[in-house]
Amino acid sequence: MKHAGYRREGIGSRFPLDLPALLGPARDEFRWRDDRCVALETGRAAIGWLIDALGLGPGDRALLPAYVCEAAVAPFRLRGVDLDFYRVGANLVPDGEDATSRLTPRTRLLMVVHYFGFPASREALSGMPEAENLVRLEDWVQGPLSAGALADESFGDYRVLAWHKILPVPDSGLLIRGAGVPPPPHSPPLRAPRAAFFGRRLVAKSLKALAVKITGGAPRGLYRPLFDAAESAAGAGAPVRMSRFSRRLIERLPLGAIVRRRRENFRRLADALSDLPSLTLLRSDLPEGVCPLGLPVRLPDRDRVLARLVAARIYPPVHWALPAEVDPAAFPEEAALAAEELTLPVDQRYGAEEMDFIAGQLREALAREGQGGAL
Ligand SMILES: Cc1ncc(COP(=O)(O)O)c(C=O)c1O
Repeated sequence: MKHAGYRREGIGSRFPLDLPALLGPARDEFRWRDDRCVALETGRAAIGWLIDALGLGPGDRALLPAYVCEAAVAPFRLRGVDLDFYRVGANLVPDGEDATSRLTPRTRLLMVVHYFGFPASREALSGMPEAENLVRLEDWVQGPLSAGALADESFGDYRVLAWHKILPVPDSGLLIRGAGVPPPPHSPPLRAPRAAFFGRRLVAKSLKALAVKITGGAPRGLYRPLFDAAESAAGAGAPVRMSRFSRRLIERLPLGAIVRRRRENFRRLADALSDLPSLTLLRSDLPEGVCPLGLPVRLPDRDRVLARLVAARIYPPVHWALPAEVDPAAFPEEAALAAEELTLPVDQRYGAEEMDFIAGQLREALAREGQGGAL
């Protein structure tokens, strides 16, 4: 298998720090609504802060989609809030009837996830339960640059966003309170960014930027342990605020151009893979306003294909290993999807050449696994 020699640091790995952007002029393409926003360390810190601000804890329940990640569940678990799950099926459409049937008198929060940056349809959202004292939280962590994440109108009382999955920022999380929603009763104070998360990620990203610049490649052993240590510190303790460093960077990055590049890459890669019988594109259309996290696909032999891609230094994340609270027997469609999903990189660091390289390597990997990709 060929290596991505022109990008020895690999395709789809973590973003190095973008120093030129940090030193450039402010573009202010992102509008901060300070009166209704709380900026935090991560998406999970934002969810945790909301749980605390609403005063939820043991004895309360939250209703989440059955296709969800460990990081979104952790803030509830940490605070002793019990969890129920509703079906979204293989197409990731929230099932309002199922969600309604799982409401209990103790259910205080309903979460909807907008997967991969694509908004859940209005029709699906209109079928979701409503109840007095039920707070609705929309999770846009995978699509903070999609139009719906910041739209004036929203389905939820609150929205949670984070940028560090799609931008080169060390820390980021944002909780937005909807227009007309009264402030939560207990708004906890926010402490300064933590060395254990922000500090480690800042150093790791700087090391990576330096290594890529000097060697053209990136000795992963240098910075990877720092990224891993930061990840294991995420979500611990009381939520802290986002750094001014990341805010400054977000204000200076060319967000519009980033969205356009991601959309171009998504289209090119989706077209290049559309004829493969053993691969299903989870999203093939790209509606107006969507900023895709990646190109999510479904592959029966995912783990073996993934190993081949990694050998070619292509690093597509898996979304997700489902948390222990989701019973695979009760949610077989979501469990099957979790076992087969792979999110191919389409980010702004790359262009047509890398998309064609990914498509070529994927075809080769499928052919070698006997899954019909022509070489
Ligand atoms: C849908 C969703 N919600 C919440 C989170 C938690 O975000 P963070 O990693 O910023 O804490 C994630 C993280 O992967 C996510 O994918």
